[in-house]
Amino acid sequence: MDELDSGGLIFLKKALVIGGAGFVGASLVRRLASANDCQITVVDKFIFGNGLAGITLENVQVVEGDASDSLFLADVLQRGGFDVVYHLAANSDIRASVNNPSIDVVNTFGTTFALSLALSESEVRVPILVFSSTSAIFGTHSQPIHAKSVKKPESAYGWMKLASEHALAQLSQTALIGSLRIIRFPNVTGAGQTHGVVKDLCAKANAASEELPVLGDGRQSKPYVHVDELVEAILRFASESYSGSLEVNFAPSDQIRVREIAELVVSASGRSLRLQFQDKASGWPGDVANYSYDLQNLPEQLSSALTLSSREAVAKSVAEEFAKLNAS
Ligand SMILES: NC(=O)c1ccc[n+]([C@@H]2O[C@H](COP(=O)([O-])OP(=O)(O)OC[C@H]3O[C@@H](n4cnc5c(N)ncnc54)[C@H](O)[C@@H]3O)[C@@H](O)[C@H]2O)c1
Repeated sequence: MDELDSGGLIFLKKALVIGGAGFVGASLVRRLASANDCQITVVDKFIFGNGLAGITLENVQVVEGDASDSLFLADVLQRGGFDVVYHLAANSDIRASVNNPSIDVVNTFGTTFALSLALSESEVRVPILVFSSTSAIFGTHSQPIHAKSVKKPESAYGWMKLASEHALAQLSQTALIGSLRIIRFPNVTGAGQTHGVVKDLCAKANAASEELPVLGDGRQSKPYVHVDELVEAILRFASESYSGSLEVNFAPSDQIRVREIAELVVSASGRSLRLQFQDKASGWPGDVANYSYDLQNLPEQLSSALTLSSREAVAKSVAEEFAKLNAS
């Protein structure tokens, strides 16, 4: 396996990023591309546009295509000789899949199943496979959630991510995956976000004159990570020499309430907007309104990537979102 030292991190030289034109993916790709000798292939079908458009990155090849097509993926894998695969493709519009769960069957589980099929049928071996999972696989828990907590998803998205974890875990029992690394993100926020409460509220605040409508009663309370710190953690997770497979829950140790997020947005908007809440505990069916992670077993290399609390991550992201709105 070819490796490259960049700023203390060992970058694996040839990387495939499935879903690499999305919010987290484009941020990861830009960071990987900063190591000149690193060769990156991106596969994406640009559901929210191409997050890499307009950026010239000589060591990045973007292949437009559907990652739920195993033949297409097998072809990419056979040509690539990748040291590491980051699988980030999924449906991220969780509210949309409440009415149409097939979006998650295809884009969340279908992409993972296709990747498993592509590896099995082409017999291409991937030394390291990093899978972006989610807190949504756990459902509602009254206590902080640890990596081995009971998994009882409440949304099609959560179920399809959990099924994906199982499909990859099964494949990692074979020689086709050297080391499977599952990292379960909390809510992610920051520049380039394609969805989520910060983007949603900033856009609404920008257009509003009196009221800012907020989904749910505002008491929903969750951890938020800034995308820059998440990308740092993903790279560390991929470059460490763990033996076997590993699953981690990754997030700041605190939470922020939706009411506080809305207040940060109103304050940054410079307008005097009245917050308008709904009379229900969660924003949409299947939304887990309150959770926190038990991070005791998070490896130090990953926990030290976190410097921002959830509130600081959201405040930074709100400022970035308004800077973008004001520039457009
Ligand atoms: N953003 C969050 O808050 C969050 C939280 C937990 C987990 N995650 C996970 O992190 C990953 C990245 O999320 P994101 O926020 O960047 O979402 P995103 O929607 O911005 O990016 C996902 C990318 O995957 C691509 N994609 C989806 N289906 C595809 C298919 N069939 N073929 C090819 N490309 C396809 C999309 O076009 C998009 O560019 C996802 O797996 C998501 O489930 C995100």
